[in-house]
Amino acid sequence: MLVSALKTLPFMLAASVAAGQPTNNRMVHHPGMLKYPITAFPGVPVRAINRRQMGNSLTNQLKGTFYSIDIEVGTPGQLVSVLFDTGSSELWVNPNCTKASNPSLCQQLGHFDSAKSSTFNDTGIKHVIGYGSGYVNMTYAYEAVKIGSAKLRNQLFGVAFDSKPENYGIFGAGPDLRGWDDPYPTVINTLAQQGFTSSRAYSLDLQSIESQRGSVIFGGIDTGKFSGHLEKRPVIPAEQSPDGATRFRIYLDGITVSTENGTEVTAFDKVDGQPVLLDSGATLSSLPGPIVNELLKGFPSAQARGPLYQVDCPVPGSNGTVNFKFGNAIIKVPLADFILQVDESSCALGVQQNDEMPVLGDTFLRAAYVVYDWDNRNIHLANSADCGSHLVAIGKGPDAVPLLTGDCRETAPTSTFIATSTSSVGYTNSTRLSSRSNTATPVPSNLTSAVTSTTLYTITSCFSNLQ
Ligand SMILES: *[C@@H]1O[C@H](CO)[C@@H](O)[C@H](O)[C@H]1NC(C)=O
Ligand SMILES: *[C@@H]1O[C@H](CO)[C@@H](O)[C@H](O)[C@H]1NC(C)=O
Ligand SMILES: *[C@@H]1O[C@H](CO)[C@@H](O)[C@H](O)[C@H]1NC(C)=O
Ligand SMILES: *[C@@H]1O[C@H](CO)[C@@H](O)[C@H](O)[C@H]1NC(C)=O
Ligand SMILES: *[C@@H]1O[C@H](CO)[C@@H](O)[C@H](O)[C@H]1NC(C)=O
Ligand SMILES: *[C@@H]1O[C@H](CO)[C@@H](O)[C@H](O)[C@H]1NC(C)=O
Ligand SMILES: *[C@@H]1O[C@H](CO)[C@@H](O)[C@H](O)[C@H]1NC(C)=O
Repeated sequence: MLVSALKTLPFMLAASVAAGQPTNNRMVHHPGMLKYPITAFPGVPVRAINRRQMGNSLTNQLKGTFYSIDIEVGTPGQLVSVLFDTGSSELWVNPNCTKASNPSLCQQLGHFDSAKSSTFNDTGIKHVIGYGSGYVNMTYAYEAVKIGSAKLRNQLFGVAFDSKPENYGIFGAGPDLRGWDDPYPTVINTLAQQGFTSSRAYSLDLQSIESQRGSVIFGGIDTGKFSGHLEKRPVIPAEQSPDGATRFRIYLDGITVSTENGTEVTAFDKVDGQPVLLDSGATLSSLPGPIVNELLKGFPSAQARGPLYQVDCPVPGSNGTVNFKFGNAIIKVPLADFILQVDESSCALGVQQNDEMPVLGDTFLRAAYVVYDWDNRNIHLANSADCGSHLVAIGKGPDAVPLLTGDCRETAPTSTFIATSTSSVGYTNSTRLSSRSNTATPVPSNLTSAVTSTTLYTITSCFSNLQ
């Protein structure tokens, strides 16, 4: 998600943990790599991106999916599920659930109790992060943080003592806004410094809307999860960026819509035409007005509803796609991943207008396999697929991310939106989605099942509220 951060942490804090030693605590079969499942939580309130959209009833009521990772904080470890966010850089836990937009979800994601940890090391330094739609006040501490088999020592993180309207803590996996080599010891830095990965790089594979097989691979790539070649794109340097900040932002060269009836609509087509931030913490994508207006021509049913667009739900088996061009790669997003279900008969386009801070969020990322290479300031991307698993380690140096082609065959994407449904519109109730999700879940932890069973598709009819 977008962060307008005011960062005040003194450098001395960072310096004290900068010299981590290599450790033997690695995954045995895959040295330098950690593959870890991402849990998709559908039915969660969508975070507003702009301050001016706060209080908008549609944005507040539209439900989306958020992507979390389970971590263990402290000694002994306490399980906490946090949003995996390529759009921010810090780890923090313990949102104030009283002020959360979904208090019951918030409570079920786990709470870290520092009094029960023998390794908690409080710094007493307080800090406020202002997100587009809220704030988090926290105190910095050093603590043991376990991600799968990797037990990070002395990870700097924030323990929130107040927040609004956050439902979950956040694992910021993006660079510090101040620079790639800023001394703030982010988790991605610590993974490399303490020897769990060879360099600061990871792959994120959210998988399609109905899948629970998404994963993040710290220090590695899974060629069984994409088709075609991984296209390498340079990250736009901070000094050339619209906001002067270091972020995972690359140029998008074009967008087209392939409609179900075979028509191709071009929303824009220009090399290096549009900088976009790749932000897994953003449910929706955001694009400038002129591009959105052209894109809408591919969706004749679209009607503006506040900042969003109501569109017809994709028909079962729809072969329509929204196509994003990056250099020599075209990422084809099936309509089911690009369009959000609102209720049984209404859907919303997964894009809103934002002229200042264009973002490709989950409505794009579900269809992409993306490698985030901090050390070389590159993004590599390909079409997401799922045809087995073959892990390749990311090494060090300029060619750390090898030239790779996915093991999966390129097939015409087809929306599985409601492919298993006998109804003509969308998910008719939460039971089906829940059972579909759970059968495919590699790691259905107790926490996960508890949350999904109570929060899946709390269906609200929100479009009507705006009319
Ligand atoms: C807590 O962190 C500070 C700053 O890094 C360090 O000087 C101190 O030794 C740590 N205390 C413990 C008990 O680890
Ligand atoms: C947390 O920060 C917000 C925004 O700066 C502020 O309004 C609020 O009073 C702070 N809360 C506490 C408990 O300090
Ligand atoms: C959470 O917010 C409520 C309402 O403002 C406040 O009373 C409570 O003290 C806060 N709790 C924590 C742990 O910050
Ligand atoms: C979808 O299928 C229809 C009917 O077979 C075909 O006319 C159309 O070209 C296809 N569209 C795409 C984007 O493949
Ligand atoms: C095909 O779809 C486009 C855009 O959705 C629409 O403008 C056009 O009229 C449609 N053509 C047919 C033959 O349905
Ligand atoms: C929900 O869907 C499931 C599976 O399709 C079905 O068995 C169940 O009867 C449905 N429940 C309701 C309340 O419609
Ligand atoms: C899930 O939690 C319940 C109690 O909350 C416990 O009895 C059960 O053993 C747990 N199941 C697993 C698979 O951990």
